[in-house]
Amino acid sequence: MTESFEKAAEIILTSKLTLALTGAGISVESGIPDFRSAEGLWSKFDPAEYATIEAFRANPQKVWEMLREMGEVVNRAEPNPAHRGMGELELMGYLHCIITQNIDNLHQAGGSKDVIEYHGNAGTLSCLWCGRRYPAADKRNESLPRCECEKILKPDVIFFGEAIPEDAMNRSFQLASSAGALLVVGTSAAVSPVNTIPAIAKQNGAGIIEINKEKTQLTHTVTDIFLQGNAGNIVPQLVKAVKQKKELDA
Ligand code: APR
Repeated sequence: MTESFEKAAEIILTSKLTLALTGAGISVESGIPDFRSAEGLWSKFDPAEYATIEAFRANPQKVWEMLREMGEVVNRAEPNPAHRGMGELELMGYLHCIITQNIDNLHQAGGSKDVIEYHGNAGTLSCLWCGRRYPAADKRNESLPRCECEKILKPDVIFFGEAIPEDAMNRSFQLASSAGALLVVGTSAAVSPVNTIPAIAKQNGAGIIEINKEKTQLTHTVTDIFLQGNAGNIVPQLVKAVKQKKELDA
């Protein structure tokens, strides 16, 4: 076991409250592109034109071009070894809550029970005009899903310019301020306020373990242990290191 994995395992085993903050990078090996890598979604769809609440209100038909393309990929996606590894850590009692920026439901599909969805979830659609809500599955064969009131529906994901769900925001910051360890997996930490969570955890004494295929703005400022590589490889290795260290310390 390399020294970095040994140290990361030590941080996790000695932490009474361990959180994870995940981003699109953890789902790339499930076939869902991330946003800011070279082939990311924003290289194809300008977020200013497709991912703001103003853009949706002004031209929902156009925004649904992107949403349909994302939806087809998300609907086909299965949890990968990174999602399942985090589900296993929770089952072992070494991961207590995942704060995810993703809307793909893959943490839950990978076995995680306590998941805070910071940017909502694509599983339901809502009407901005009359407030009715529908399961996305019920509208899957409509290329432009409409409400009974005839308006075009919006997925319950947070667009730029929309507020983060209050309970998600409050619980995340409350947990971050008392965490003993924070796993940061597959996020560029480019978007606020979620990108302040690692600094809050760090300020309160948490050990920060970052898993990413490349360095980020956290790596040289907040991160204590940087495990570079694809999450689908690194997370299972980390789970193995925790198990080995637990046996050694037993
Ligand atoms: N394993 C580990 N890390 C990976 C992998 C992988 N297989 N593939 C990509 N990454 C890394 C990238 O290097 C990058 O640092 O994951 C990160 C993904 O960053 P972004 O594309 O910016 O995604 P994310 O951080 O989740 O974006 C945050 O921005 O556009 C909004 O609402 C959107 O929730 C999203 C938010």
